[in-house]
Amino acid sequence: MTQDELKALVGQAALAYVVPGQWVGVGTGSTVNHFITALAGMKGQIAGAVSSSVASTQRLRAVGLAVREAHEVDSLPVYIDGADEIDDQGCMIKGGGAALTREKIVADLAARFICIADASKRVAVLGAFALPVEVIELAVPQLQRRFAAIGGRAVLRVGVLTDNGHPILDVHGLQIGNPLALETEINQWPGVVTVGLFARHRASVCLLGTPQGVQTITY
Ligand code: A5P
Repeated sequence: MTQDELKALVGQAALAYVVPGQWVGVGTGSTVNHFITALAGMKGQIAGAVSSSVASTQRLRAVGLAVREAHEVDSLPVYIDGADEIDDQGCMIKGGGAALTREKIVADLAARFICIADASKRVAVLGAFALPVEVIELAVPQLQRRFAAIGGRAVLRVGVLTDNGHPILDVHGLQIGNPLALETEINQWPGVVTVGLFARHRASVCLLGTPQGVQTITY
C-alpha cells in the first residue's frame, strides 16, 4: 500500500468517531483531506464541521458541508487531525502545513483528539521532524538565539505566512524527551504565537494506517 492509500484508510476509519447530530472539529493536511472526502458521505447526519484552516474550509464547503469557525462554538465532542510525528504517549509534532495555531485552538474546544496518521508518523522520540513554531516576525532573531541555546537550529520557512499572517520557524536538531515540559517552556518565550508541540492537547486515540490495516491506539 502507498502512503496515500494508508492515509485514505485512516481518513475513512475516523468516521466511526464522528458524533451524529453534532459539529466535528476538522484539522488540516493531506490525511485530513481524505477524511473530508469520507465525511461528505455523512452530510445530513452531522451539523457540520469546525475548520482549522482556510484550506480545510474551502475543501469542506466544496463537498457541501456546513462550516463554522472556532469562535462560533463553545465545545466539540471530537477533533480529527493528522500529525507530523506522534510518540507512544500520544504527544505530537504538528504544523508541517503551517496550520498549527488554529489547529490548537480547535483541538482545545474538543473533548477528544483523534489523530489519523500513516505508520511512518509513529516515533519513539519526537524531533526528527523539524518542530514548527508560528512567531511574531520581529522576534525571529531573538527566538533563533533561544532555540540555539537549547540545541535547536531554527530556520525561517521561506515564502510562507500562516493564515494569521505570521512566519514559521522550523526547529531542527531537537530530541524531545519531555514534550509537555518543552511546550510549556517555549510557550513562555515572547514572540511565540504557537509551538507545534501538542502535549497538553495530545491525542486520545491514534488511528494508525499500517499495511495490515488500521491499528487503534488509545492513550
Ligand atoms: C498542518 O499544519 C499539520 O499540523 C498537519 O496536521 C500535519 O502536517 C499532517 O499533515 P499530513 O496529513 O499532510 O501528513
